[in-house]
Amino acid sequence: MNKLNDTDYGTPQRESATSITLEIDGVRITVPAGTSVMRASTEAGINVPKLCATDSLEAFGSCRVCLVEIEGRKGYPASCTTPVENGMKVKTQTPKLADIRRGMMELYISDHPLDCLTCPTNGNCELQDVAGLVGLREVRYGYQGKNHLDLKKDESNPYFTYDASKCIVCNRCVRACEETQGTFALTIDGRGFDSRVAAGQNDSFMESDCVSCGACVQACPTATLTEKSVIMMGQAEHSKITTCAYCGVGCAFKAEMKGNEVVRMVPWKDGQANHGHSCVKGRFAWGYATHKDRMLKPMIRKKITDPWQEVSWEEAIGYAASEFRRIQDKHGRDSIGGITSSRCTNEEVYLVQKLVRAAFGNNNVDTCARVCHSPTGYGLKQTLGESAGTQTFDSVMHADVIMVIGANPAVAHPVFASQMKRRLRQGAKLIVVDPRTTEMVKSPHVQADYHLKLKPGTNVAIISALAHVVVTEGLCSEAYIAERCDAQSFKDWKEFVSRPENSPEALAEVTGVPAETVRSAARLYANGGNAAIYYGLGVTEHAQGSTMVMGIANLAMATGNVGREGVGVNPLRGQNNVQGSCDMGSFPHELPGYRHISDSIARAEFEARWGVTLNPEPGLRIPNMFDAALDGSFMGLYCQGEDIVQSDPNTQHVASALSAMECIVVQDLFLNETAKYAHVFLPGSSFLEKDGTFTNAERRISRVSKVMPAKAGYSDWEVTQLLANALGYAMKYSHPSEIMDEIASLTPTFHGVTFKKIEQLGSVQWPCNDAAPEGTPIMHIDTFVRGKGKFFITQYVPTTEKITRKFPLILTTGRILSQYNVGAQTRRTENVQWHSEDRLEIHPHDAEERGIQQDAWVGIESRSGQTVLRATITENVQPGVVYTTFHFPESGANVITTDNSDWATNCPEYKVTAVQVMPVTQHSEWQRDYQEFNRQQLELAHLESEAGGA
Ligand code: SF4
Ligand code: SF4
Ligand code: SF4
Ligand code: FES
Repeated sequence: MNKLNDTDYGTPQRESATSITLEIDGVRITVPAGTSVMRASTEAGINVPKLCATDSLEAFGSCRVCLVEIEGRKGYPASCTTPVENGMKVKTQTPKLADIRRGMMELYISDHPLDCLTCPTNGNCELQDVAGLVGLREVRYGYQGKNHLDLKKDESNPYFTYDASKCIVCNRCVRACEETQGTFALTIDGRGFDSRVAAGQNDSFMESDCVSCGACVQACPTATLTEKSVIMMGQAEHSKITTCAYCGVGCAFKAEMKGNEVVRMVPWKDGQANHGHSCVKGRFAWGYATHKDRMLKPMIRKKITDPWQEVSWEEAIGYAASEFRRIQDKHGRDSIGGITSSRCTNEEVYLVQKLVRAAFGNNNVDTCARVCHSPTGYGLKQTLGESAGTQTFDSVMHADVIMVIGANPAVAHPVFASQMKRRLRQGAKLIVVDPRTTEMVKSPHVQADYHLKLKPGTNVAIISALAHVVVTEGLCSEAYIAERCDAQSFKDWKEFVSRPENSPEALAEVTGVPAETVRSAARLYANGGNAAIYYGLGVTEHAQGSTMVMGIANLAMATGNVGREGVGVNPLRGQNNVQGSCDMGSFPHELPGYRHISDSIARAEFEARWGVTLNPEPGLRIPNMFDAALDGSFMGLYCQGEDIVQSDPNTQHVASALSAMECIVVQDLFLNETAKYAHVFLPGSSFLEKDGTFTNAERRISRVSKVMPAKAGYSDWEVTQLLANALGYAMKYSHPSEIMDEIASLTPTFHGVTFKKIEQLGSVQWPCNDAAPEGTPIMHIDTFVRGKGKFFITQYVPTTEKITRKFPLILTTGRILSQYNVGAQTRRTENVQWHSEDRLEIHPHDAEERGIQQDAWVGIESRSGQTVLRATITENVQPGVVYTTFHFPESGANVITTDNSDWATNCPEYKVTAVQVMPVTQHSEWQRDYQEFNRQQLELAHLESEAGGA
C-alpha cells in the first residue's frame, strides 16, 4: 500500500514562482520563496528541534527550541518564523544553540510529570523526542517550584482526554481548532504562569462548542490531549491507509493497528480530499465495526413470523438461490431484483448489478442514490454531459464567491466545510440558499453575505429569479456562451427567464425571499470573480429536483462559471460511495459508465465479456419494485447494505410491499429494519474487513484496505460471488483488483484505473484513460463533455404537496453532525452522547400558537401517517416550517413523508411534507406497533436488545 510520509516539516508548504537558494549547515538547498528556515532544513534532511510548530499550522514562534544562528544576523532567530533569503547561511547546531535549547527544555520539564514510562504516549511524544534530541540530562531548577502537576483531567469527551498537567502551552491545539477545523472552541486562558488551554468559557470540552473533530488531539505534541483508545490500548504497531466509510468527502485515514484491532484512525496528511483532517465520525466513530450487535452467522426462515435459524454459509446461499429460482419459475424472470448500496465498494456494487443483469437475467437493479442524488445524475448529464461534479474540493480555495444551495456541509460534509470556511476567512463571499439558518449562515468567523431563506419547495422559482437578474441586467458571459454553449437552447432559455413572471419581484411571494436580496445575490454571483456552486439534498429531494439541478447548471454556464479552478457545479454527495454506486451501473436503465441499456453497442461489449444475452429493456426502480410487490408480480429481493425500510419514504407502504414478497435476502452488518422483513440474512463486512475502492464527491477513487479479517468469514464481494455461482452463473474473482480490472476494461471513463495506479498516486479522479492517464481533477475545461453545453427551460411548478388548513406547516428534513443517515453505525458508538434522539424543530411563533413547550412531546401528522417526537423551539426555522432529522428508526420520520417524487428520476420529495403538529402525551399508533414488531423480531433473532431500538 502507499508509502507513508510521516515527516513533519514544521511549517506549511509554500507555492511561489520565485526560488530561493540558501545554505544550512553547509548543505545548499533551493526552496520556494516564503518557505521557513525550519522547513528548508527539514527538506535538506536536517532536523531542527521544535515544539510549537507543525506543518499543518502557520508558525507561532512561542517555544524557542528551534533557534538557529544566521550569518550576519544578531541573536538567535526562531527557524519556524524566519523566512528563507537568497544566500542565507544558517547553522542549526552550535554549542551556544545547544545550551539555549537545553535551558528551554529544563524549564518545560521542571513543570512536567515525570511519568514517561507509564504515560500513554510514551514513544510517541514530541516533548520526549526533543528532550532526547537536545541531550537533556538534568533539570537544574528542580521539580519543587510552583507547578501545574495537580491540575485535574477533563475526561468529558468520550473519545479523548485533556490532562492539563502535561500541557506546555504551545498553542498548537488552539490553532488547530481555528485554522484546521474553523470552530474556534479553544483559547489560552490566563497569563504567564497561569496560562492554560480552555474550551469555551472554561467549560468542559463537552459543554463547549467543540465538535470533537480531533484536530487538536492530532496537533498536540504531548500527552495532554490523547485518544482514550490509545490510553487503553497503548501505541499501535502497524498501520495501513484506507478511506472513511461515512460521507462523500472520502477522507483518507491511516488505520493504526495492534494485531487485528484498531488503536486509532489518524487522518492521512497526504489524503487528497482531506489533507490530514477529519470529523468526529471518521476519526472516532468506528467502534460499530466490532459492536456486539454485529450479526456474524447466516440465518434463514420461511416466514417473517418464524424464528431465525442459524445455518452454514453454504446452506444460506443455497437456500437464497433456490428461492430466487423458484420465484422466477412461478412468477417469471422479472419477478426478482437487487438493490446495491452506496456504503459498499465499487467492486461490490459492480458485482451486485452484474449478478442481477447476468444471473437474474433482468435489469431490476437500483440503488439508494435513487433517494438522494439521482436528479444530479440526470440534470448534469443533460446540461453538461456527465453525471458528476465538476471540481476538486481544493478548487474552493480559488473561489471568490461561494453559493451553497440546500446543503449544510458543516454537519454533512464537515471536512470540506472546514476548507470552505478557510476560504471564507481569506475573504471569499458567501451566498446561502436554505430554508433554515444553518451553521453556514452564521457561526464563528462565518457570516453569509446573503441568506436566501426560501420556503421549502420553491428552489426552481429562486433559480429562475437569479437567472432573470443575470440575463436582464446584462451579466451573462456572452463570449463564453458563444464559444461553448448550444446557441438555440441559450436563446430559448434567455427568453424564458427574462419574462416578467420570472423576476425576483414577481416570485417574492412564492419564495418568501425579498426581491432585492435575490437581485444582490445574483449580481454578486455573476460579477464577483470565480463563482462556485455547492449543493446538496435540499436541491435534489424535491418534486422538481432534476429541474433545479439543470437550473443550477444553466446559471453556471450563463456566467461562464464551469471549466476552471475556483468555479463549477458541485453536488455534495451524501454517502461515501454514492458517486461510485451510480458509476458502477446501479440504475435499471444504465450499464456501468452511464451507458444506456438500450445501446446495442454497449450491451454487446458487456454480453461478450459476461457471456450472456442482456435484456435491452430498463428494469424496475425501487418504488416500482414496491408497487409490483403489492401487485403480486415482484416477489424476491437481494438487498445489500441498504436499509430501505428506514430510509425510503412512506414507511407503511414500504413495509406492506416487503411483507408481500416471498424471499427477501438482506446482507448487512446488523439486523436492520429491512432485515426484520427478510427470509435470508447474510452477514456483511465493515470497511475495515475488505479491499476495494470508494469514489467520493469529486469523482476521486480511493483505496479501501482490509485491516482485519472479515468477522463473518467473507467480504461482501465474496458473498455476491457465492450467490452468483449458486445461481449457476460462474464468477471466479480471487481479489477485488480483478473486479476493478474488469470494470476498467468495460467502462471508457475508467480505462486507465487499476489498484496499482491508485496506490501509486494516492487516488485517481475519473475520467482516467488514455486521454487523461493520471485522471481528471477538473472537468469540461475546453469543451463540455456533451459538446455544447445545453440550457434547459426550468418552469417552476409548485409541488402537489400543498399546505391546507388541516396540514398548515411544511416539514423538511436533514442531518446532524454526530449521527449518520439511518444511524445503524453511529448509534452504536459514543456519538449518541451528542444526539440520542431525533427532535422536531419548530419556530417559537408556531409553538406558541399550539401551546407547545420546549422539550415536550409533539405529534406530527401528514397525509401519510403520524409520529411523535420531542420539540426544540428555535428561530433557526422560519414560521410555517418544521424540521427533523431521521437517524433513529423509532422516530418514524419516513412514516410521515409521502410518495411524491422527482418527475424525472423518482427521487422522493423528502424535503416537503405538509403536516400538522400538536402537543401529545403518548407515542403514535405507528410507534406503538413498531415497538411491538421490533420486540417480536428481536426475539425471533434471539436478541435481547438492539442499540437504537425502541
Ligand atoms: S476536537 Fe476539534 S472542535 Fe474540538 S476543540 Fe479540538 S479542534 Fe476544536
Ligand atoms: S494541549 Fe497540547 S497542543 Fe494544546 S497547548 Fe497544551 S501541549 Fe500544546
Ligand atoms: S468528513 Fe466525511 S469522509 Fe471525512 S471523516 Fe468525516 S464522515 Fe468521514
Ligand atoms: S518551534 Fe519554533 S518557536 Fe516553537
